[in-house]
Amino acid sequence: MSRILIIGAAGQIGTELTEQLALQYGNDNIVAADLNPPDKQPEIRDYVKLDVLDKKALTDLVKQHQITEIYNLAAVLSATAEQIPEKAWNINMNGLFNVLEVAREFDLDKVFWPSSIAVFGESTPKTDTPQQTVAEPSTVYGISKLAGERWCEFYHRKYGVDVRSIRYPGLISYKALPGGGTTDYAVDIYYKAVAEKPFTCFVNADTRLPMMFMSDAVRATIELMQAPANSLTVRSSYNLTGFSLSPEDAATSIRRHYPDFEVRYEPDYREQIARSWPQSIDDSIARRDWGWKHEYDLEKMTDVMLRELSASKVNSV
Ligand code: NAD
Ligand code: SER
Repeated sequence: MSRILIIGAAGQIGTELTEQLALQYGNDNIVAADLNPPDKQPEIRDYVKLDVLDKKALTDLVKQHQITEIYNLAAVLSATAEQIPEKAWNINMNGLFNVLEVAREFDLDKVFWPSSIAVFGESTPKTDTPQQTVAEPSTVYGISKLAGERWCEFYHRKYGVDVRSIRYPGLISYKALPGGGTTDYAVDIYYKAVAEKPFTCFVNADTRLPMMFMSDAVRATIELMQAPANSLTVRSSYNLTGFSLSPEDAATSIRRHYPDFEVRYEPDYREQIARSWPQSIDDSIARRDWGWKHEYDLEKMTDVMLRELSASKVNSV
């Protein structure tokens, strides 16, 4: 039986991934950890405070709970990382090292660690970006993700650690807010629409990025982790995508429900980060290796986002 530790469980992805893993593996087999454990998710029995940089605490937790798999989601995201480069590098790299080392020492069954479209940079082909291509990231976040991918592949090849990874695109969700990324505007725009307020966007109207609805991302993560090891040909990180989206596309989709929705554009440093990333991703290798198939396109996701955020607005009044 798998015994799963999720680090960074209180974040945008962790909130929904922990919920799904608990449904599939049972609450008793889940340990959710974060620097800042939330009051939410009381149904998770073992919610613990953990700094992923504290190797001893991590080791003790793995021993105490007889952990067999770790999902390490703890990171500083792209926009915040540009403000605190050294700290971001430390958390993103040394957190991963601690997890890979513990996996090696305790011969864990599997590790999941997410990479990002941020591994790509200005010199990467912008459309249908292939799995293997030029990757010269310009952000500290992208540099840490690219280095992390190389270390994951190294630990797999050298020590046989079964580490699996996805280069997530921007993720859009309604259960937890995003945590300081360049793609956060694609979530914020829905909150403003439901609040019936104008939205001020920090990237330009036509800046297009690969995106995915969170329920697809969570399903992809679990499907990759459950795929037979011998079907996986990528041990750095898999390209993955749902659809491509510009702020104006999102606004147009939202106006089907809120015709008067207004968006203003005040691009800042995040516009430059977004412009350095791909506009669309070729994820055919993930589709071939482990049968990845996205379910949500823009319109289907917009309908769910607006419905769920309106319902929580009504409930909170
Ligand atoms: P998030 O910022 O919402 O969550 C990260 C969580 O990690 C937070 O709850 C934070 O408290 C925790 N954390 C930070 N430092 C920690 C530490 N030292 N020890 C323990 N916990 C710590 O981020 P997210 O969006 O959920 O992203 C999770 C992972 O997925 C990250 O590696 C991120 O780079 C990657 N990713 C996310 C997206 C996206 O759009 N959300 C896209 C690509 C990749
Ligand atoms: N959504 C993430 C970010 O903007 C991409 O990795 O940082």
